[in-house]
Amino acid sequence: MADHLDGRQTSLWVATAGTTGYPVLDGDLEADVAVVGAGVAGLTAALALKRDGHAVIVLDAARIGTGVTGHTTGKVTALHRLAYTELADRHGPEIARTYGQANQAAVGHIAGVVAEEGIDCDFRTVSNYTYAESDDTLARVRDEADVAARLGLPAAFTSDVPLPFAVRGAVRFEDQAQLHAVKYLHGLARAVDGSGSRVFEDSRVISVRDGRPGSAATVRTARGTVRAREVVIATNVPFGDAGSSARGLFLHRSYIVASPSPAERLHGTFISVDEPMRSILAADVGGDSYVLTGGEGHPAGEAGDAAARYRRLAAFSRERLGTGDAGFRWSTQDSMPLDGLPVVGRMSPGAGHLHIITGLRKWGLTNGTAGALILADTLSGRHNPWAAVFDSTRTMPAGPAGSTRPGPAAPEEPEQPEQPQANARETADALRPGEGAVVEVDGRPTAVFATETGDLLAVSAICTHLGCTVEFNPDDATWDCPCHGSRFAVDGTVIQGPAAEDLPRRPLP
Ligand code: FES
Repeated sequence: MADHLDGRQTSLWVATAGTTGYPVLDGDLEADVAVVGAGVAGLTAALALKRDGHAVIVLDAARIGTGVTGHTTGKVTALHRLAYTELADRHGPEIARTYGQANQAAVGHIAGVVAEEGIDCDFRTVSNYTYAESDDTLARVRDEADVAARLGLPAAFTSDVPLPFAVRGAVRFEDQAQLHAVKYLHGLARAVDGSGSRVFEDSRVISVRDGRPGSAATVRTARGTVRAREVVIATNVPFGDAGSSARGLFLHRSYIVASPSPAERLHGTFISVDEPMRSILAADVGGDSYVLTGGEGHPAGEAGDAAARYRRLAAFSRERLGTGDAGFRWSTQDSMPLDGLPVVGRMSPGAGHLHIITGLRKWGLTNGTAGALILADTLSGRHNPWAAVFDSTRTMPAGPAGSTRPGPAAPEEPEQPEQPQANARETADALRPGEGAVVEVDGRPTAVFATETGDLLAVSAICTHLGCTVEFNPDDATWDCPCHGSRFAVDGTVIQGPAAEDLPRRPLP
């Protein structure tokens, strides 16, 4: 299926950032703070903590940039579609104001870090727009501009929107930014590593144990351990969380294509209010110009024809933005908080020294930065003015927030959404190269994948997080869990948590 699509199936940022070469953790080390996950939240926290005088060790399961941050659009902005009217309606203006202040401060923090650390990441200051194409949505962007301006944010309504197709108007935030997401992470990692702090790659954490009075917390990988006073878990969905905070989140998958664009590029970053939602920006990478078009989102685990979604995005880009065919295409999976506010703080009310940053609601470059600064303040003994609003131990509502991105309530208990097919061997043998299916073998759901050489790879289909049945994702050739978003390679290796253990191999009859 994927073969018929234009472009490479990889993030533009991942494909063009160059490589890193941090070592694998091998042995036992001690640090003041261990950070799990080298995305924007983890590395920003690590750098802020290092600047506060802490010795920090960062552990990433793979190579830096290959996780969620490396699959963003690269927008750095406090304007999050219609977030301020939604948050003010739901929580009142003070909480909406705090959310805005945190994100606006994050834009400034990122600009500061880029300058101070000399990070070459194509950082550009731009205006960001939420645009309307109909009367109904025009009224909504006018409201958003009014609400955001009253909250003290750099917002204004404008009918002058620099897009190459007609729109009715937009709310504009000035002095926002965009960057090359993976080059930014590489720069952060360089700033963290050294002078008593370390970065490790390909060092998947397999367990985390909280500290007790008089004993450090322990983070364990396959080949080593880190003992630390505090642990920051910044892994999109919290690693090792047996469900307490995962219950306040649902997972949402979305898609991006990057298409070569004519020389005259867009000035600004954009998102539509009208459906289907489209997120747009231009980027110059290595001398080539691209337009990125994102959208086509859906709750993770819901059947989605990824190929059709990529085709619709590529067609929009060609027809309305004048680009060529897609050069790159990728998808990502974000954690969405049910009440619309990020989740930052202790991993659970009873946790002593384990801290999480999650629920970044698709605006992870700024919400992740804000979350990191909250934890850096907390762990350095400073008051943070946003901490109470993002508090991870708050009570979450029972259903989805009235957000711009609908999704199902997070499952309370593992569900078994589909019955495995009965005739295992027949179904498995009928698989063509690159296809996968869940079948029942000796009464156990088994995930079977046919390799290019026609061999069958069989692993348990029971997610090692909380026991849901994984589903085959044909576009990425992965086993994805519909419950909390864990993803596994076809040989069962964990690609993305919260699952920490691989799917075990299973013999086929
Ligand atoms: Fe939670 Fe699979 S059961 S991610």
